[in-house]
Amino acid sequence: MKLTEEQLEEFDEKGYLFLPGLFSKSEAAALKSAASEIYASDREEIWREKSGVPRIAFAAHTYNEAHRMLGAHPRLVEPIMQILGEQVYMHQYKINAKAAFDGDIWQWHQDFGTWHRDDGMPEARAMNISVFLDEVTAANGPLLFIPGSHKKGVVEAGHDLETTSYPLWTLDRQSVLELANEGGVVAPTGAPGSVLLFHGNLVHASPPNISPWDRVIVYLSLCAVSNHITKHTRKPWIAHRDFTPIVPLADDCLSNLAERSASRSAAE
Ligand code: SIN
Ligand code: MN
Repeated sequence: MKLTEEQLEEFDEKGYLFLPGLFSKSEAAALKSAASEIYASDREEIWREKSGVPRIAFAAHTYNEAHRMLGAHPRLVEPIMQILGEQVYMHQYKINAKAAFDGDIWQWHQDFGTWHRDDGMPEARAMNISVFLDEVTAANGPLLFIPGSHKKGVVEAGHDLETTSYPLWTLDRQSVLELANEGGVVAPTGAPGSVLLFHGNLVHASPPNISPWDRVIVYLSLCAVSNHITKHTRKPWIAHRDFTPIVPLADDCLSNLAERSASRSAAE
């Protein structure tokens, strides 16, 4: 899949692009049911909130069939290859639960800030692309973006090891205020299957989920192969060390899988 010139311009200007309904309801449902099974399993790659509900499942593309397909899906991988102008590898793959009632905050940060400081990623030649597996609303902890903030480079940050179970380089309040006074704050919302593509330097956060509904979103962090990380301070399933270029699969890979599992359930 290729982005249009207008979409490329919008991405360059704002640092993100919202693609509502890029995946069908049944594709999103197949991924959601795989995510629920993963969260119910006991693996070191699954991190939980203090209350015990899941927060992040890392690297599911390496052990789950539906997520393996999403990790090489042409609707996600090709636009990032187009933006970066070269092949990409998977730097990180996470399924963030933001569970009903208990899903905790993500403080204001830039992902490249962490990739650069902790993983020695040379340049901000890496992008996030996220797929909503639930309806994302104003009520269930949507992502908050500061449009245009990706143009500021790496903003000074402190290492937050305490607020949540996941260490993060977070921005101070004054920097967030100045950036938000300039760019505003937006919260893209939409149906399961919608996709948000955003720059590694875009400043973002998300509030706690006090609503009674989960808000599962999958994030692929795709990095230009020539820009691979140089430091291995984090677990290999958090910051991957396999820099093999991703070969995009067929466009119908997930819909075929969803159909096969529907006909299996009907036969049971
Ligand atoms: C992130 O910033 O990496 C995740 C935020 C979220 O899932 O709300
Ligand atoms: Mn982030």
